[in-house]
Amino acid sequence: MEPRTFPLVLELCDDCGNLQLRDCLDAADLYRHYLYVTPDSPMLRQHYESLHAYLANGHYIRPDSFVLEVGSNAGLFLQFLQPRTAKVLGIDPATNICEMARASGIDTVCDFFAMDSARAIREQHGAPDLIVARHCMAHNADPHVMVSAAAELLTDDGHLVIENAYGLTTVENNEFDQIYHEHMFYFTIRSMKALLARNGMHLTGIFMAPVHGGSIVFVAKKARPGDVVDVSVEQFSRREDDLLRPGTFERFSENAYAIKERLATLVEDLVAEQKSVWTYGATAKGNTLLNYVGLTHQQIGYCVDSTPIKQGKFLPKSGIRVVSEEEATASPPDFYLLTAWNYKQEVIEKVRRSGNNHTRFIIPVPHVHIV
Ligand code: TMP
Repeated sequence: MEPRTFPLVLELCDDCGNLQLRDCLDAADLYRHYLYVTPDSPMLRQHYESLHAYLANGHYIRPDSFVLEVGSNAGLFLQFLQPRTAKVLGIDPATNICEMARASGIDTVCDFFAMDSARAIREQHGAPDLIVARHCMAHNADPHVMVSAAAELLTDDGHLVIENAYGLTTVENNEFDQIYHEHMFYFTIRSMKALLARNGMHLTGIFMAPVHGGSIVFVAKKARPGDVVDVSVEQFSRREDDLLRPGTFERFSENAYAIKERLATLVEDLVAEQKSVWTYGATAKGNTLLNYVGLTHQQIGYCVDSTPIKQGKFLPKSGIRVVSEEEATASPPDFYLLTAWNYKQEVIEKVRRSGNNHTRFIIPVPHVHIV
């Protein structure tokens, strides 16, 4: 059966500097049954530590806080927070993933975060002091739904923490594969300020984090006279103003095209030399990369991924079969195209620890190179 395909066009708002998809798919189709399970990664655990330290330092989280996480997935971040704060609660729309979270001891509401579900949470659990939305605010066609629900639900002095891939890092590092249908928005500081202002909130702090190719953590609260705004907001905004120019986006587009050409030629040459090439990481971004470059199961043997529910399935359009890390260790290829390049160091270390000193890694961004 031919897979369904959808346009993938990124647009830039001249006014607020927001980057967003022109065509958004239906959220229920995307999220009610979900295959992404947060990997148990040392890099992510380190990030949880740093993020918690930043939030505790700013008094956004305290030992007596009630923390709600939106898009809480299988509950890994809340498991980390649980011993450090008074109460944690998750909300996530994916029924299969909520069951995993509950099984691991994380109380999780199975729903989209919107005004109705926010009010139901307040009735049953009270108002949270902190709402955390990591890598999910940009995943819906209307981000006002989540921000307005957070403004309604938070305590008056409570904070909303939004973490996402930073639109300008995506562009600066040629991470064009971050553009896929789940990522509907690529927030900039300017666009986040505009989004918050329309919901009676404002930005009080910014924290940059290395995860997912360069992420930004926005801290916001309901705007009140006398609110203290951290200097980070002004500092990062100034840097962003320098970058938000047409030339930045023209370069991005040219570099994406150069990566496509280089990668297509490299894989073609390797296959001609009888080398085996697989991909590592059944990531959403990997599908953008493979389908843009035009690589399929004809050149790529398998895709390796540690997530059990992805194994045995096929990548959309390219038709590459997903296998486990154990299967890959048993008969590894000559090259891995690292489609989970955001975990580069730990994936390479893991492969070497398994005794495989032979396979080389093709890293697609910021420029194609082999390690
Ligand atoms: P993400 O970049 O969207 O977080 O997806 C990473 C994917 O890579 C996810 O499907 C899990 C997979 N993965 C592995 O297969 N092995 C690993 O060591 C890590 C860290 C991730």
